[in-house]
Formats: sequence, structure tokens, C-alpha cells
Amino acid sequence: MATESAPLIPVHITAICGSMRGDQSYTRLALEAALAAARSAGATTDLIDLATCNLPLCSSPEDRDDNPQIIELKARVSAAQGILLGSPEYHNSFSGVLKNALDLMGGDEFRGKIFGLLGVAGGSAGAVNTLGHLRVVVRGVGGWSLPAQISIPTVKSAFHNGKLVDKAMEDRVRFLGRELVRFARLHRLVPELEDRLVEIIDEDV
Ligand SMILES: Cc1cc2nc3c(=O)[nH]c(=O)nc-3n(C[C@H](O)[C@H](O)[C@H](O)COP(=O)(O)O)c2cc1C
Repeated sequence: MATESAPLIPVHITAICGSMRGDQSYTRLALEAALAAARSAGATTDLIDLATCNLPLCSSPEDRDDNPQIIELKARVSAAQGILLGSPEYHNSFSGVLKNALDLMGGDEFRGKIFGLLGVAGGSAGAVNTLGHLRVVVRGVGGWSLPAQISIPTVKSAFHNGKLVDKAMEDRVRFLGRELVRFARLHRLVPELEDRLVEIIDEDV
């Protein structure tokens, strides 16, 4: 007997690239690989490259209302159920440009959403501090970080012709993209649970 598979719950994944090196950025390359895997898992995707966003520096919430770059940033992030944050490791943390972008947004864009975290580093110790610090910030905006995360050390030698050299690392990056889709989908499965989840986050702020 033929069985019909249930239609997949649509999810949209937005990545935010915290490097200002545009298409030279290893962070961006890694995010693109994760997003390709997310599309293979049935998601639609978007990549916000902060190098092209021309965002102002965050000052106060009142200043942000009519800035077209901020309005567009918020709209693109609001459209997502899963958010992939990528950053180079800078002085043992994530980049200031990513922090500024996150500071320009808040609970309206992030609360109750699923986050994947990815960091790249010039050094052999990897981007573990970037990932740990991002995890704390995601908690601060009321998001849920996946346990799986990606740190790409010695990043200059990790890519060749735009592709990850190490197959195991490429598999891990693709896994993160798929996990983000899977959990964003699970999270949408029972919408009535969402209110309770958001209540729990609010209670815990
Ligand atoms: C200001 C600055 C600070 C950096 N600090 C670190 C660091 O603490 N640890 C490290 O491994 N690499 C560090 N790096 C190297 C970057 O992580 C590396 O160049 C990375 O490839 C940049 O990412 P991108 O290609 O996406 O721009 C630093 C680079 C800059 C510009």
C-alpha cells in the first residue's frame, strides 16, 4: 500500500555574516555551505552580509524607527524561523559589527527562534570564545541555541577554491544547516506550545 508522506513544514533560515570582508570572507563561505544544506533539507534561505548593509551604530531604540537599513535588516530577520550567526574570532570574541547588528534588533526579531552558531579563526585554538559569547547573547535576546556548533580553526588553510578542504568539517557544517532546519520545523510543529515557550523565556529574563 502506498503511503503519502506528510508535507514538510515550511521554514525560512536567515544567516547573518559578521565579517566586513564581503566575498573574501571565510565566515561567509562557511555560512553559504550551511545554507546550501538547509536548502537541501527543504528550507528557503537568506544571507545578510553585514559588509553590504551600511548599518548605523546602535545608540538608542528611539533612533532606529525610520532608518531604511535597519527596517530592511529587521524585516529579513523577522521572516526567519531559524537564524544562523557567523563570525570571525576577533580578540577572543565575536566581531563588533555582528554585536552592533544584534543590538539594533531585539526580542521582536529573535525571541523564541532557533539559532545555529558558527565561528572561524585565524589561529589553531579555533573560535570557541566567539561561540561561547554568542551563546550568551542569544540567551539575552530570548533565542534557543542549538547544542551543535561549528568552529573552524586555521581558517586560511581550511578552504581551497571556496570549498572546505576537510571533508569531516564540511560534513559538520552541512549538519549544522540541516539541524537548524530540523529544529526550526519541530519548533513550528505545535504552534500553541510557542506561547508557553515565550512565557518561559520572559519569566527567566
Ligand atoms: C581585529 C582582529 C582580531 C583577531 N583576533 C583573532 C583571535 O583572537 N584569534 C584568532 O584565532 N584569530 C583572530 N583574528 C583572525 C581572524 O579570525 C581571521 O582572519 C578570520 O579569517 C577572519 O574571518 P573572515 O575571513 O570571515 O573575515 C583576528 C583578526 C582581526 C582582524
